[in-house]
Amino acid sequence: MNATNHPGPMPDTIAAIEFDAAAIAAAVARLAREIRRDLAGEPVVLVGVLKGALFLIADLARHFPPEDDVRIDFLAVSSYGNADRSSGEVRLLEDTSESVEGKNVIIVEDIVDNGLTLQYLQTMLASRNPASLRTCVLLDKPYRRAVTVHIDYVGLQSPDTFIVGYGLDYQEKYRTLPYLASLHTWVFEAGALPAAKGIG
Ligand code: PRP
Repeated sequence: MNATNHPGPMPDTIAAIEFDAAAIAAAVARLAREIRRDLAGEPVVLVGVLKGALFLIADLARHFPPEDDVRIDFLAVSSYGNADRSSGEVRLLEDTSESVEGKNVIIVEDIVDNGLTLQYLQTMLASRNPASLRTCVLLDKPYRRAVTVHIDYVGLQSPDTFIVGYGLDYQEKYRTLPYLASLHTWVFEAGALPAAKGIG
């Protein structure tokens, strides 16, 4: 393992490591502390938004001690990024496996950019009468909002670059990188690839 805690060299498409594995781990630990403080022993359902929140929810959930009543569920929404971005349309692809009615629910997202995905999810889940609904996000790009959304727990402020790693992809690549990194802009400028979400 090298200094970035990853087997093998860094891809040459990566411009910079923005947050290494230790910085991510510290942010996730803090998020878990804040969530546990607010729950005050109440049961909770962590609802991870696939696919980007995969590693975040796995790491976050393991900060809860066994006496805590923590459940994990998932949902998936369509990606309107790239060519379809202007439509702003979000569609539910997979719903949670259990009802959220009467439960303390925390949406677990990897990144909030223009906020449309989160707005959709908050509206949808709130309409199902949970006991409480909160949102936990690892990476925030508040300066890119198209709509106002409330986030209860924010891990890290993202630079205004296209970020990959720790669950975040570019065209399904780089999710498995253990760090959060900026892609070089030339990755998108080749012409053959659609414009990257989060850039410009
Ligand atoms: C990403 C991310 C959020 C959404 C945020 O998902 O996981 O769900 O975009 O963007 P917004 O604030 O501009 O709506 P993506 O569509 O890339 O799917 P993925 O999680 O499967 O990679």
